[in-house]
Amino acid sequence: MKTVSILRILLVAALSLFLIEALARTSEQWAIVETPILLAVWFVIILFMVAIEVSVASIQRLLFETLNEEAKARYLAKEAESKNAGQIWLNKTYRLLVGERKARSDEEIIIDHDYDGIRELDNNLPTWWVYGFYATIIFAVVYMVRYHVFEGATQDEEYRREVAAAQVEIEEYRKTAKGLVDASTVVMLTDEADLSDGKNVFDTNCAVCHRADGGGGIGPNLTDNYWIIGGSLSNIYEIISEGGRPGKGMIPWKNDLKPLQIAQVSSYIMTLQGTNPPDAKEPEGELYEQEKIEEEIEDAQEKIDQPELSEEELESDLVIE
Ligand code: HEC
Repeated sequence: MKTVSILRILLVAALSLFLIEALARTSEQWAIVETPILLAVWFVIILFMVAIEVSVASIQRLLFETLNEEAKARYLAKEAESKNAGQIWLNKTYRLLVGERKARSDEEIIIDHDYDGIRELDNNLPTWWVYGFYATIIFAVVYMVRYHVFEGATQDEEYRREVAAAQVEIEEYRKTAKGLVDASTVVMLTDEADLSDGKNVFDTNCAVCHRADGGGGIGPNLTDNYWIIGGSLSNIYEIISEGGRPGKGMIPWKNDLKPLQIAQVSSYIMTLQGTNPPDAKEPEGELYEQEKIEEEIEDAQEKIDQPELSEEELESDLVIE
C-alpha cells in the first residue's frame, strides 16, 4: 500500500475518533472505552477507509493495464525516476503538502489577465491549507452541534461546577483533617463529642489552676470578658498552645496536647463565657469586645478605601472662617 494511502487512513481514523469523542463523551473516560459500541463504529469507519483505498489502488492498476506499451513505459520510467532520486517519500509528502503542479510550466498556468504588467499564476492551493480549512469546517459543525443543539456546558458553567466540586472536597478534607489546625485556622467546634472531649482535657489538665468551673484560681477567670492576651478563639488557642507570659505559670501545652485537643478545649472554654460561677476570681487583663474590635477594623478599612479628597474638598477644608 502506498504511503499516501496510509496517511489518508490515519487522518480519517484520527478525525473520526475526534468526532466520536466530541459528540459522545460524558465523563473523564474516553467514550470509546466507556461505550464499546462506539469503538466498534470507529473500527468500521477505519475498515471502510481501508477498503476504499484498496479499491482505488486496484482500479489504478487496472487502468495501468489498459495503457498501450508506450504509455506504460513512460509511466514506469517516471516512477523509476523518482525512485532513483531516493527521496520518493519526502518528495511525495512535500508535493502533497504544497499541492505543487509539477508537470506544468509557468506559461501553462498563467492567467491571461494583466494588471499593469502584474500577472497571476493559477497555482493549486497548498494541500495542507486545504485540509486545514476542511478541519475548521468539521470543527465548526461539531462545535455547533455540541454547544447549540445539545446545549453543552459553557465555560462559565464548567467553572462553577468545578468550583462547587472543589468546595465539597475542601469540606470533606476539613472533616477528616480536624487535627490539622493551628491558631490561624482554628474554628469553633460545636459537636457534643468535641465539647465533652474538651471538658475532659480541661478537667484533667487545667482545672487545678483555673478551677473546674473556669472561675479561676492560680490562673485567671476564664468565664468573664476580660482577657490578658485577647478573647478570640484563636487568641485562646494561641495561649494554650504557646503558653502565657514567662514566669506567670501558664506553660505551653503544645507538647502534651494534640492540636485537635487544644481546639476542643479552646471551644469548651468559649462555652464557659458568661456562666458567672460563684466566687470567681476578679477580672484580669482587658475587656474583650468582639463587636468593638470588628467596628475598629471596619473603620480602618473605610479609611483605606476612601478615595483621595477632590481639589474642591481640599479647598473648602482650607477656608478659614
Ligand atoms: C499551673 C497552673 C495552670 C495550669 C495547669 C493551666 N493554666 Fe492556664 N493560665 C495560668 C496562668 C497563671 C495564666 C495567666 C498567664 C499570663 O498572665 O500570661 C493562664 C492563662 C490562661 C489563659 C488566658 C486567660 C486570659 O485571661 O487571657 C487560658 C485561655 C488558659 N490559661 C487556658 C488553660 C488551659 C486550657 C489549660 C489546660 C490545658 C490551662 N490553662 C492550664 C495557669 C495555669
